[in-house]
Amino acid sequence: MTDPATRHLLDIETLEDRTIRALLDRAKALSAGAAPGTLDRTVANLFFEPSTRTRVSFELAALRLGMRVINIELDRSSSTKGETLVDTTATLAAMGVDCIVLRHPETGRCHRLAAEVPAGLSLLNAGDGSGHHPSQALLDAATIEAHGPAWPELDLCIVGDIRHSRVARSGLALFRRLHAARLRIGGPPELMPDDIDLSGVEVCRTLSESMAGANLVMMLRIQRERMDQAGWPDAERYHNEWGLSERALSRAAPGCQVMHPGPINRGVEIAADVADGPKSLILDQVRMGVFMRMAILEWLAGEAIGS
Ligand code: CP
Repeated sequence: MTDPATRHLLDIETLEDRTIRALLDRAKALSAGAAPGTLDRTVANLFFEPSTRTRVSFELAALRLGMRVINIELDRSSSTKGETLVDTTATLAAMGVDCIVLRHPETGRCHRLAAEVPAGLSLLNAGDGSGHHPSQALLDAATIEAHGPAWPELDLCIVGDIRHSRVARSGLALFRRLHAARLRIGGPPELMPDDIDLSGVEVCRTLSESMAGANLVMMLRIQRERMDQAGWPDAERYHNEWGLSERALSRAAPGCQVMHPGPINRGVEIAADVADGPKSLILDQVRMGVFMRMAILEWLAGEAIGS
């Protein structure tokens, strides 16, 4: 039932280079005060996992574009009565919903659903298990272009629970295509991935190695909700070995900036003074998220953004 004329945002890998550039340029223009268009469309937020940043910023982005927004309360929806996700999306489409923002704990669920949604209904992957989080990668790239080193000078290390991170998977795919000079990942062996494309990506075995030479670090939360090893890793031990303190950051390149997609666990993967410090881009990422999601909603509506 896939309709080639209907735009979806499922992952970074299937986006064309010119679309990526157009989205980055449009988010930049919107953040600089460009007037948003008005879209006579309806978006439904369908979140099967908790979210603050992604859900609220998609809602704000849609409202700034004049769209109607429906936030589905899943515990009061008919999914609790056994309705399938395919039936729920078909039902929403029949009522006039144009776009569904879906977060789901199951890796690959959004891709499978895209093959079954009615023609004309756009699907936006707001995070599927350990799979993909394309809008996060795009807002991170826009934040780097606004505040970080230029791509040919970028020495980025992503540190933490890479194994379960859809942010790392989508980010690495995007930063590689934007020709980042050097990409690295670091973390305990147990949290290293076995199914992420690491071509051109170096693997660091210690935090010191991860920091050496980096002019941007992206810290990641340990995703305990995706682990079956109860109690592992111990938060204090993890912080001592892999947490980003001012001391650890001092081993990076001078001026090294710090990103984190959030939510942060203070005192675990990042110390509070680093998260709140002058090198932190964490709230810049959040701010850029609204503008990038406006650009994405415009693009999904078929707008010729960036042209
Ligand atoms: N970064 C991110 O996806 O945050 P939320 O889970 O709060 O949406």
